[in-house]
Amino acid sequence: MRTIEWREGTVITIDQNRLPHETVLLEIKTCREMAEAIREMKLRGAPLIGVAAAYGLALTAYHSRARTREELISELEADAEMLRKTRPTAVNLFWAIERVLERARSTYGDVEAVAKAVIEEANRMADEDVEANRAIGRHGAALVKDGDTILTHCNAGALATVDYGTALSVVRFAKEEGKNIRVIATETRPKLQGARLTVYELMRDNIPVTLITDNMVGYVMAQGLVDLVVVGADRIVRDAVINKIGTYSIAVLAKEHGIPFYVAAPTSTLDLEKTAKDVVIEERSPDEVTTIAGVRIAPEGVRVLNPAFDITPMRYVTAIITDRGVFPPDKIEV
Ligand code: MRU
Repeated sequence: MRTIEWREGTVITIDQNRLPHETVLLEIKTCREMAEAIREMKLRGAPLIGVAAAYGLALTAYHSRARTREELISELEADAEMLRKTRPTAVNLFWAIERVLERARSTYGDVEAVAKAVIEEANRMADEDVEANRAIGRHGAALVKDGDTILTHCNAGALATVDYGTALSVVRFAKEEGKNIRVIATETRPKLQGARLTVYELMRDNIPVTLITDNMVGYVMAQGLVDLVVVGADRIVRDAVINKIGTYSIAVLAKEHGIPFYVAAPTSTLDLEKTAKDVVIEERSPDEVTTIAGVRIAPEGVRVLNPAFDITPMRYVTAIITDRGVFPPDKIEV
């Protein structure tokens, strides 16, 4: 199954907060429920939240009782505003919302014609995501040699996209090409996407994976246990890559140890008109830091910082792998 699917007025996805212990399928029926699911990270990962937002608007269109085209477009615009407020950092969310609104606004005819176009656009974006990830995998696999160990951070896998993943698509294609590869996955505090999701995905696919805590990266690199790093991205701006908190530290360590640091992302993650100073870094609840799996680990009342993403300047990035190819960071083709 794909991570997200449209079934006639319902969106089916997996509750990622419950993985790996429980596989719970969610049936999302309204755009409001979709916005909640994105905010609470039941579904997460930049490409996936983009497609999820598009499907949120498809739900609005499908269930709308609007009598005119204009009324439906107003409803879509109101729900788009609700979706924009869910998570600020991944550009895919905003890109997807604009693309669906643009499709609605440029469709003439009755309400049904606009609704049909919106649903079609969301489905097309889901299909395109799968194709983009397969292309990323093909281009990226050429950078991986037989016997390599790839370190990855967070979850840039099938669960963060519609299918295949971005960084993990590179891993999957390298394996498919018959290369004997291994993965080191960082646990990714505070939400543990590495330990819970990346490890789960790779073990399910029989790809050898070793889990480490985030603070072990320097040690394993110094021991010569890492050949290359491949991570995903939430937004790629002109001067930096914005990705899960901890990415910057890994990139600096990779440079220190002469290890290539690659970023894999579809073109929908590119925001090259902007620079890092234009990007809002999401700050999440202190509870994510003061607890682990619901158990409190820090004294009540402690002051906490919880930025969900960090900024890696391009000088640390060896190359960007997109669906169009592999590019030096200052020469990305859109
Ligand atoms: O907070 P999350 O889990 O949505 O963050 C996800 C990441 O940072 C991923 O690395 C990124 O979205 C790329 S996913 C293909």
